[in-house]
Amino acid sequence: MCGIVAYVGQQDAAPIIIKGLKRLEYRGYDSAGVALQNQAGLSVFKKKGKVAALEAELAGRDLHATIGMGHTRWATHGEPNDVNAHPHYSFHRKLAIIHNGIIENYATIKQALLKKGHSFQSETDTEVLGQFIEDIWENTPDASLEDAVRLALREVVGAYAIVVMSEADPTQLIAARKGSPLVIGVGNGEYFLASDATPIVEYTKDVIYLNDYEVAVITNDELRVTTLDNTLTTPYVHKIELELEAIEKGGYDHFMLKEIFEQPRSIADSMRGRVLADAGTIQLGGLRDYMDQLARSERIIILGCGTSWHAGLVAEYLFEELARIPVEVEYASEFRYRNPIINEGDIVIAISQSGETADTLAAIELAKSKGATIFGVCNVVGSSIARATDAGAYTHAGPEIGVASTKAFTAQVTVLTIMAIATAHRKGTITDALFRQLLVELEGIPDKVAKVLESAQKIRDIAYIFTYARNFIYLGRGMNFPVALEGALKLKEISYIHAEGYPAAEMKHGPIALIDEDMPVVVIATKDGSYEKVVSNIQEVKARKGRVIAITTEGDTNLPDMVDFTIEIPKVHDVLMPLISVVPLQLLAYDIAVMRGRNVDQPRNLAKSVTVE
Ligand code: M6R
Repeated sequence: MCGIVAYVGQQDAAPIIIKGLKRLEYRGYDSAGVALQNQAGLSVFKKKGKVAALEAELAGRDLHATIGMGHTRWATHGEPNDVNAHPHYSFHRKLAIIHNGIIENYATIKQALLKKGHSFQSETDTEVLGQFIEDIWENTPDASLEDAVRLALREVVGAYAIVVMSEADPTQLIAARKGSPLVIGVGNGEYFLASDATPIVEYTKDVIYLNDYEVAVITNDELRVTTLDNTLTTPYVHKIELELEAIEKGGYDHFMLKEIFEQPRSIADSMRGRVLADAGTIQLGGLRDYMDQLARSERIIILGCGTSWHAGLVAEYLFEELARIPVEVEYASEFRYRNPIINEGDIVIAISQSGETADTLAAIELAKSKGATIFGVCNVVGSSIARATDAGAYTHAGPEIGVASTKAFTAQVTVLTIMAIATAHRKGTITDALFRQLLVELEGIPDKVAKVLESAQKIRDIAYIFTYARNFIYLGRGMNFPVALEGALKLKEISYIHAEGYPAAEMKHGPIALIDEDMPVVVIATKDGSYEKVVSNIQEVKARKGRVIAITTEGDTNLPDMVDFTIEIPKVHDVLMPLISVVPLQLLAYDIAVMRGRNVDQPRNLAKSVTVE
């Protein structure tokens, strides 16, 4: 969703900000803008569309400035257009503001300002907040802009990350956050601000994660952080491990393709130092002190959205099958508005790639208020969810830039698999022999994923045939049911083809009415406990002339005669199958989307991290 970049230092701010906005494009947005401060005063430029459109708008202008801020907006209040784009000037143009998040009580504040004679250019809640800050600044004796920001934010209901600049103090940026991320990069005589570390990493590895309810006042040689009630805090400087190559395409046409092909490495990274097959142990550092509690738990509640929710469904099978613990998997967005029953002895696991998903964060807060112990399975180190949970395990997949989640999913499933196996072993619900077998098989997964990737050309050929399909059905049973859901989600989000995933046996209860010669049906038909049943389901589809693409186990000689196309994958233990079977579905979705000319990395309407409800 919206992205923030700001700079103060000795260098030219504009190129740093524009480059930073490009690095944040993956988050999803529909307009972009910058504010720069120089001898000419505080200037704002903004444009609907991509950062490239903003660049065209800036061409030929004198942009020399050593302080400035930029924004990519994902529309919430008001359509995407030049006026609603950020930054916004305040009423008397004394300040400019950029903002991520939603000010929930903006209408009440707006009414009060209208009564005072204010008028508004845009439909945004952000402009209201900017005018509100200015109004407090003008009408509170002796208040500095920093005081006004603090006073205004105390009245605000909602989520925000903001940066404010003013002509009155042309050397200073004021930033604040609640519920929306903000990272400060600490350079030599310069500071960077951004929604995540990607725009910062090429300049410095030293970062500070601003906390909720903190206000940072930043000049080129000073950073001061206080709370909303003006108590000075001591920010902790983290060293980030992110390398520049990790956020560049590295020769691939799209980030999504790069990330699909990175999976042998990213899955290995998720296991590194954790799965020790030779020693016959699992080490989960972040959960070490909680493993007994997990093994004793009477129920596990898993929270997530989208792909992370699908990883949760895989984990449901894993924990129930291996550790014999009942599991409920909940959409975080629904859970947060229920009055869920959480008992002593329950464990909550929140799954999130970004660690910033607003619904998941809110669901965690609700679970916390009911006394739950919460584990996080997050990819982004230092993210809000990682910090809001009691303990957890990072997935270590590396930055995922493509909006459609791929390597993050397999990394989540890897970590959840490790957790389930470790819990089962501790509880004694699996034998030592099975424990050791699973560790050995887990260590072999990266090579097996690499083997699946060798089928990329075959999958591309199949994709070509189905490029103009209007609908798709995905079927799977057992642990491959969540994989079917994930395959359908991948296809719809990047190709805009309508696709639905079902448990294969559910087809007879309705979706079978859709089957005809125009309906492609992707069936995950690997040799596992439900193979024979899935074969029957395939026959039902074929009897109605549906066109079947089957994901089969290497060496299956039965299915090629029965279906239209097969994509073979290596044999693995049933509980590890989702790590392999999802990969051809990712490639199929990618290829179809590319062949349809879609913007694969930044599909329409989607945001990488959904930081508003
Ligand atoms: O960052 P999170 O894992 O919390 O994000 C959850 C969903 O928004 C995300 O998985 C979304 O569904 C992806 N676009 C799926 O590809």
